[in-house]
Amino acid sequence: MGDERIAAVEEVPADGTLLYTLAEDGDEREAILVKLSDGAVTSFLNYCMHWTDVKLDTGDGAPVRNGDVVCRKHAATFEKESGRCTYGPCEGAQLDPVAVETRDGAVFLVDDDYEFVRTGVDDGDPVDLSTSPGSRLGF
Ligand code: FES
Repeated sequence: MGDERIAAVEEVPADGTLLYTLAEDGDEREAILVKLSDGAVTSFLNYCMHWTDVKLDTGDGAPVRNGDVVCRKHAATFEKESGRCTYGPCEGAQLDPVAVETRDGAVFLVDDDYEFVRTGVDDGDPVDLSTSPGSRLGF
């Protein structure tokens, strides 16, 4: 279990998040990779602590403002490093951390509670940024 490659470090945006899917006891959950200011990458489950059915990253990257991940629903902000809510209706709450490790330019899942399933959410298909209305990549 664990120790599975999720993505290259360079695929994780500095001003957003990268969505991936993992499984906990066979149940799929979503998680996000978050790049820190020193270039390291950390990870949390993709569910707001205010309404836990609300996803921070809906497929095109959660917004990141002033170093915090922002929930689009009611604008709660979560510190990238700790996942702690610093402002908003769930202030003081903590995103569920997922253990990842960075080596050789890639991010690996090293959390014994989860198995890596895929990058993105759709079966087999990575997130298609080219058709996403929220995409910042205007090719
Ligand atoms: S659901 Fe995220 S702040 Fe309310």
